[in-house]
Amino acid sequence: MAKAKTQYVCRRCGYRSTKWLGRCPGCQQWESFEEEGVQAPAPAGARGPAAPRPAPLSHVAAEELGRMLTGLEELDRVLGGGLAPGAVTLLSGEPGVGKSTLLLQAAAGLAARSRRLLYVTGEESAAQVRLRAERLGLDLSALWVAAETRVEAICEMMAEDWDALAVDSIQTLSSAELSGPAGSPGQIREAAGRLGALAKSRGLPLWLVGHITKDGSIAGPKLLEHLVDTVLYFEGDRERSLRLLRAFKNRFGSVNEIGVFEMTGAGLGQVGNPSALFLSERPEGASGSVVTPVMEGRRPLLIEVQALVSASPLALPRRQSLGVDSARVGLLAAVLEKKVRLKLFDRDVFVNVAGGAKINEPAADLAIVAALGSSWIDLPAPARTVFIGEVGLAGEVRSVAHLEPRLNEARKMGFTRAVIPHSEAKKPQARGLELLPVQSVSQLLRAHLGFK
Ligand code: TYD
Ligand code: MG
Repeated sequence: MAKAKTQYVCRRCGYRSTKWLGRCPGCQQWESFEEEGVQAPAPAGARGPAAPRPAPLSHVAAEELGRMLTGLEELDRVLGGGLAPGAVTLLSGEPGVGKSTLLLQAAAGLAARSRRLLYVTGEESAAQVRLRAERLGLDLSALWVAAETRVEAICEMMAEDWDALAVDSIQTLSSAELSGPAGSPGQIREAAGRLGALAKSRGLPLWLVGHITKDGSIAGPKLLEHLVDTVLYFEGDRERSLRLLRAFKNRFGSVNEIGVFEMTGAGLGQVGNPSALFLSERPEGASGSVVTPVMEGRRPLLIEVQALVSASPLALPRRQSLGVDSARVGLLAAVLEKKVRLKLFDRDVFVNVAGGAKINEPAADLAIVAALGSSWIDLPAPARTVFIGEVGLAGEVRSVAHLEPRLNEARKMGFTRAVIPHSEAKKPQARGLELLPVQSVSQLLRAHLGFK
């Protein structure tokens, strides 16, 4: 029998090496390598299953993906239309964000559609899961739970007749075939590999919960991303009840969708109208606050951009932004300095996206510029008006994608006017909204923000 060979694996990113290394070439982390027992390779001559015959794609059966809906629309949409058979989904997020709660509610949703999800808990006892389900007001008799951390035992359970399986969490599992402790890279890879392969062969959707700390340093999610079909991140912070579910990888759907939830005393509530939530605390008539519709997947979402421009006592004034790329804000500030001679070099500039939302598209440039201008001159931006447009280095306002859904969302939320790129003015896309086309940043400031 061939001898098992020692391998070393980076605890952080999963980089493998046959030698111990002081610093990981993959993620540059120091002292992150640990030993992993590797199974002996199969003896020469032993044969695995026969290799499949190559075939042209036109001969490959396009399987009907019998999707299962959890009934939580925000979740089903992020998944790409419910759970696909055999899909392995990693649900990742910081401890306490609500992963277990989401899974339990999804299990109840499946149960309401006569689907049985087995919830395997390694983190909590079955009694604790019961307490949570009671608190959530779920039908206890329809939920199935097993407190188990042994991979082999879970594999046996998977052979039974379930419609879906959830394991909470992957970090608690261990296989008797490996010597490392639960949560070590070897154990995580082994558990995910075996459960995933079994789920595929049985066409069983499998959820794996993976904890991640703020700096993403715990072994698990990073290393697991390659082993699963779908990676979902559940985000939110302790101070706020808002929770965002994002797909980072999805073999069965788009990665642009987000699901919006709110953690309440009775579990996760779905936020069908996130725009209202993001705008709920918007100060009326305050300078520096501007609203813009951003696209999250196919869904437009109104968010509030806030800017604070104030005289700086520092030789090197501060430039800080939350929820939007600082480099982008720096660039827009530079455009304002150069193209409209707005003095910013002796001001602190802060930009914040309210409610913990994030901007990652240039279509919000015009809103950021408007917020900066409004704060600088200390006059509120016009009421009930959204700002949409990309800003170029010459100060020109450029067209954006998906203008129509953005305008529709603004109208739905009670806005009456939209400042848009001049190039879009001719298109008959806005019913019920007054369109205010602008060609340049300087025109924006003069026509709509009270600059002389
Ligand atoms: P949990 O689902 O246990 O998080 P995770 O599995 O990601 O660690 O949720 C834990 C938090 O959610 C906890 O701080 C309490 C809060 N919570 C509520 O506010 N309402 C509820 O109905 C439930 C079940 C939890
Ligand atoms: Mg949990």
